[in-house]
This record gives sequence, structure tokens and C-alpha cells, in this order.
Amino acid sequence: MDTDTSISEDLKLAVLEKIKPTEAERKELMAVQDELAAEVKAAAEKLCVPDIFVKMVGSAARGTWLSGTHDIDVFISFPEETSRKDLEIRGMGIAREVAKHAEYAEDRHAEHPYLNIVYKGFDVDLVPCFRVCSACQLKSAVDRTPFHNEFIKSRIKGREDDVLLMKQFMRGGRVYGSELKTQGFSGYLTELLIIYYGSFEKTVKAASSWKPGKKIDIMQHSELEHSEPLVMVDPTDPKRNVAAALSLDKFCMFIDHCREFLKSPEIKFFFPESPLPIEDKEFLEKLESRKTSQLAIVFETPDVVDDVLYPQLYKMEQAASSLLSEYDFSVIKTGVWSGKPQTVVMLELISGTLPNVKKRTGPPVWVREHAEKFKDKYEGAENVFGGYIENGKYVYEVHRKYTTAKGLLEEQLLNCSLGKQVYQSVNKGFEVIENAEICRLKDQDFRVFLRKWV
Ligand code: UTP
Ligand code: MN
Repeated sequence: MDTDTSISEDLKLAVLEKIKPTEAERKELMAVQDELAAEVKAAAEKLCVPDIFVKMVGSAARGTWLSGTHDIDVFISFPEETSRKDLEIRGMGIAREVAKHAEYAEDRHAEHPYLNIVYKGFDVDLVPCFRVCSACQLKSAVDRTPFHNEFIKSRIKGREDDVLLMKQFMRGGRVYGSELKTQGFSGYLTELLIIYYGSFEKTVKAASSWKPGKKIDIMQHSELEHSEPLVMVDPTDPKRNVAAALSLDKFCMFIDHCREFLKSPEIKFFFPESPLPIEDKEFLEKLESRKTSQLAIVFETPDVVDDVLYPQLYKMEQAASSLLSEYDFSVIKTGVWSGKPQTVVMLELISGTLPNVKKRTGPPVWVREHAEKFKDKYEGAENVFGGYIENGKYVYEVHRKYTTAKGLLEEQLLNCSLGKQVYQSVNKGFEVIENAEICRLKDQDFRVFLRKWV
């Protein structure tokens, strides 16, 4: 018997049954891809742009998409010598022409212009790119993608199921997706892991003893040092780390997920039960037993894409936490939830109130000039309880400026360094609500977040 079968075939089949596209789904996707290719060619002819190629890339083109995820990536490839401006004008021209037959279209600008459309129910990206001769000579960030496609397609044959299992397993561990919201594993990274380790279970076993600084270089062609937790050298471009977006915590959550799964390989690691929204009564009981202070900063969600929103929310979470620490509040944890219409930054504190007394320690008495200045400032001043010498230093007990975390946030939050759109929204108005008052927030998805929080 194969030594690599500790994870039962039955389990894998049970998972695959839920995530593997059916023959009908496969046919439909292929047909839509063919139609889109024809549409792009027709649009190019109509606009007299003869020298383009159409390329289908991404998981739809590689047979590694999860059933039900309907995204197609269409690349419109221009000769390398095309100017950037021409690529934009002609590429977007073709894309807009195709979009005339779509249900919905939206201009999106990453580093690079592209069009996102909904076509026959599929979520399609139409992306103009340069036909460069190798991925390390790219003229724009998206030019690597066709090379990824070639690399994966020729090596993934026969291991598509392993990729599907891994993608779903990572979803189950909440680490799949390289967007800035998730900071987890991208589809391409997952495929490279399967190619490198050979199968789903070999990857799980290997990952359960990863350490930060883990480096994988399939083509053995990287000369660079990286500082990220995982370095997957791009086989098509030695200077690029495919795992650059992976955060330390998501890297470690994956290690933990692999270890727990190997202890008891069960289907729940692929399809975790989603927790129910917490009810008022349960939340109040938790507050009673935790005896901490819960603060929620609530404001209107800025109308920007997640890749812009989440980095700003994480920055705000950090800024609010630093502000509180600076004024002696002890922060236990922070978190972010964002929905429509509201966003909530949650903070849990040892206590949301502090006494009136704040201890100010000055210079040693023998550092005469500084010490005397310090003493003059506080001795007999209003708002000072009194002073003494401790360990050779002047100490004064003064009135604290902010005795409640809520008051501090209300007055100082806007002076923190916040991202542009989050600042604009918080500046329009925000509220800090505490403990039992948080029951006012009824959004059911927020209540799911809140259950995990307490
Ligand atoms: P997708 O994000 O659609 O990923 O990017 P995917 O491989 O199709 O995986 P799923 O199944 O949809 O989740 C499409 C292609 O764009 C390139 C990759 O080559 C990827 O396969 N890409 C995407 C990157 O190089 N970097 C990224 O951060 C995202
Ligand atoms: Mn995709």
C-alpha cells in the first residue's frame, strides 16, 4: 500500500464531490470563454487593431477553479513595442466594445487599467497586457500572468484535484485569497505548492513543520534575500516572491490548520460550521464573565474597493490602539468588521476607565537644571495632587487628562494618522459605543463577528 494515504480517499472524494466542477459546468465555462475570445477578436477587427492575441488565464483556463466560483480572466495581449498610452486606449477600447454585450461593466484601475464585466453570469476581467518575451522583462505587473499560465498548465495535469482540495482546505482555514483584506494564499501560490510537494497531503504534511523564512525555489534561480514569512520564488521571474502578500499570522494559521487536520482528518477542516450570530442575551453574559471593557468605533463605510479600504481600516485599528496605550489604557485586542452601511473598529481593554491620578516621573534630582524646571512646573500647580522623591527622581501625581477611553477616542481619534477615505468618513461623523450599548448594532454578519470576538 502507498505510504501516502493516511488521509482517506473517501474523505477526499466527499470534498471533491462538493467542489469539483461538473462536466456541464466545465462545458458551460469553456463555451463562455470561447465566446469571449470571439468577442474580443471581433471588437479588435472593428476597431482596426489587428495585432492582438487573446489569452485565457487564471484558474478557469487551468482547470483549477472551484465549482460555483465564476471568474474568467481574459488577457488582451499587445506587441511589446506598443506604447503604454496606446495599450490603454486600444486595450480599453476593445474591452468597452466587448462590454456592450455584458450585463454590467466597471472600470477598475489596479497598477494598470482593466475592465470588470459580468457576462452571462460570469465575473470577467478584461485585461490589456504587453506580449513581452519573458516574465522578468515585464512592462506592467500583469504581464507575468500569461507566463504563470504556461508554467502551471504544463505541470498541473493530473493534479487538478489536489489543487481544488488545497484551495478548499485553505478556505476552511480562512487563509485563501491574496487580496489585502485577507493577506493569505493566492491561487497561483497554491498551484505552485502542489507542483513542488506533489500532492495535497504531502503539502499539508510539509507545511505542518514550516517556520518563517521558509524558501521554495522550484527553478533554483533566485539570488535574492527576502524577509517575508514564506518565499515562493516565481518560476517565471526570479526576482518576484509569489507569497509577498502573505502575512505572518495567515502563514501561521495555515501551519496550525495543517497540524490540527493531521491529528483528525475530518471534513470540517474544508467546510467549517459558520457560527451563528450572537444574541443580545449571550453577549451580555459574556460581558459579565469577561469583565473587560468593550469599545466599538462606528462610522459609515467609505465607498471604495476592499483593496483600498482594508489597509486603511487595519491602519486605523493600529492607530486607535497606539493612542489608547499612549494614554495608559491597556489594550487586550483589536479587530475590524466592515459591512454596509457601517464599519466597526472593536477594541477590548483591561478597563475603559482610569483613576484621576497620573504619575509623572521627572529627572534625577542631581541633574539640577532639568530637575528644577520639572519641579517648578508641577509644584503647587493646579491639577497636581502632590509630589515626592522616588529612586532619586522627582515624582508628581497629577490629574489625568482622559479618564475614559471613550472620551479620549472622541477627542483625539481624528488627530491620528488615518488613510484618506477612512479619514473623510470618520470626519463626517463617528460614534464610540461601549459594552451593553453594542447590542444596538443588529447587523447579523457583525453578530457573527462578535461571537468569535467574545
Ligand atoms: P486570480 O486572482 O483570479 O487567481 O488571478 P486564480 O489563479 O484564477 O485563482 P482563483 O481560483 O480564481 O482563486 C488570475 C491570475 O492572475 C495572476 C495569477 O497568474 C493568477 O493565476 N495574479 C493574480 C498574480 O500574479 N498576482 C496576484 O496577486 C493575483
Ligand atoms: Mn481567477
